[in-house]
Amino acid sequence: MIAAVFGCSRTPAPDPPSSTDFTPVKFADPPGVHNLLRLTDRLYSGSSPEGDAGFQSLRDLGIKTVISVDGAKPDVATAKRFGLRYVHLPIGYNGVPRETAVRIARAVRDLPGPAYIHCHHGTHRGPSAAAAALRCLDDRCPASAAMDILRTAGTDPKYKGLFASVESSAAATPAEWDRAGQDFPETAPVPDLARLMAGIDERWDRLKLVRAAGWKAVPDHPDVDPTHEALQLMEHFFEVSRLNDPERPDKEFRQMLADAEASAADLEKALRASPPRADTAAAAYARSSSLCAKCHERYRDK
Ligand code: HEC
Repeated sequence: MIAAVFGCSRTPAPDPPSSTDFTPVKFADPPGVHNLLRLTDRLYSGSSPEGDAGFQSLRDLGIKTVISVDGAKPDVATAKRFGLRYVHLPIGYNGVPRETAVRIARAVRDLPGPAYIHCHHGTHRGPSAAAAALRCLDDRCPASAAMDILRTAGTDPKYKGLFASVESSAAATPAEWDRAGQDFPETAPVPDLARLMAGIDERWDRLKLVRAAGWKAVPDHPDVDPTHEALQLMEHFFEVSRLNDPERPDKEFRQMLADAEASAADLEKALRASPPRADTAAAAYARSSSLCAKCHERYRDK
């Protein structure tokens, strides 16, 4: 087993033409992994693996290469401990750029497989990147089959750019393979806003658990400290407001950001009260949630 994981550094030959059945298979969540989907015997998609349990689950599946398209910094150290190679090729919600799709495909083609492609939750960007890459690799995968992959993954049709890039993806040309090269970085630079948003998303996931626990400490999650999560959320929005982003100078963006910071502050105050003020917390949470959606619709998912 050890030898199988660590002893095989040769690049395997490309797959012999196998199945032309591209029906994706959805799995029950193994520990530390969500939304696990098998596209082919060499390609999977899903959520960001959580801690040792997540990487262990990937290793148990036989995964050798993990490709993140998320803005968060990959946990390269833990992956290494489980004998897994990381590749970081982040994308946004507005589509899978052709160049990135081919680079992902080339990583899937050239690095030891099977490969596992993930975003944060494994619902939108991860499966889209995987489906676009699959079409670069295999010209027998028609658009209809690729669309089925997104439907099975639960990708929200409101992300029109993601759907469009999967629909238009096609076999990579020799020139495109060449251009993609073999630079497969373990971590890639991520623009400040996307990086902070990935942090916001982590806090938000934890606050979802706090909400489900009735605005109290979360059973089985001693690492989640309700008031601290809300405070962190607020501070992340404050950090975003300090970015001098020339692409987003407009007043509406700034206003939504200020509102998001204020809602996070209200949430923190409600959680800090003893006992926590559940109604106020729920209202602040709902306000924050609608601001995430409103700002993304306007500025992110075009
Ligand atoms: C004021 C506007 C605004 C608000 C409010 C906002 N976001 Fe964002 N978010 C953005 C923009 C713009 C991007 C795209 C950044 C980019 O790709 O450069 C983004 C990107 C993201 C991403 C993708 C990060 C990545 O991996 O590239 C996630 C996840 C995210 N936001 C989560 C949230 C959550 C959760 C909330 C609410 C708690 C939220 N955001 C509130 C504007 C906002």
